[in-house]
Amino acid sequence: MKHKVLRNLSYGMYVVGAKDEKENGCIVNTVVQITSDPAVISVSINHDNYTNELIKKTKKFSVSILGEQVDPKIIGTFGYQSGRDLNKYENIETEDLSGLPVLKDSCGTMICRVINIVETTTHTIFLGEVISSTEGNMDQPMTYRYYHEVLKGKSPKNAPTYVEESTPKKTVWKCKVCGYEVEMDELPSDYRCPICGQPITAFERIEK
Ligand SMILES: Cc1cc2nc3c(=O)[nH]c(=O)nc-3n(C[C@H](O)[C@H](O)[C@H](O)COP(=O)(O)O)c2cc1C
Repeated sequence: MKHKVLRNLSYGMYVVGAKDEKENGCIVNTVVQITSDPAVISVSINHDNYTNELIKKTKKFSVSILGEQVDPKIIGTFGYQSGRDLNKYENIETEDLSGLPVLKDSCGTMICRVINIVETTTHTIFLGEVISSTEGNMDQPMTYRYYHEVLKGKSPKNAPTYVEESTPKKTVWKCKVCGYEVEMDELPSDYRCPICGQPITAFERIEK
């Protein structure tokens, strides 16, 4: 199989949220509209994600569509850390939509009730009927390609689109928290990771 062809599939960028005793969410690139009437969408979430556990328990999830102007720290917090270890929504501006948290700044939000679940080896596919939605205050949705090519972001192992990196050919500094990589001989002392805000002590040099 030519795995590389999968990289030509297009995606957006989203925060999928859920709430039990605790509210939590994670970054996904796998929200897809399935039908229009009724409005049904799907999302693929790794078995290890805390968000997966919460959605299975509550049968409800929220989707916030990320805009290009989103604060990259939202991607760092929601995409590279687990809600089992921290409250991701602390210090993030949210609104309540039908009892679930959605981002205040987004290209739109939705609340879905789970109508079906499909299990695969690593991920659960949740089918959700949209029961409420808002239009959002940002007008340019972020694509997965924009995240990679403009923000220079990476995808962690739990993302369905994760691929093993090939051997690096240049001097690259990698953030140990979020995986962000920057090509530079030396990092300036006041450098901070543009995705998760960590200082240079969180970076490791990847040898050529
Ligand atoms: C760009 C990007 C895309 C991602 N896409 C997905 C996805 O579609 N499905 C998934 O399960 N995880 C995806 N992830 C990984 C989760 O966001 C990540 O594992 C998160 O830390 C899980 O948090 P939780 O344990 O609090 O649910 C993605 C992460 C990034 C940065």
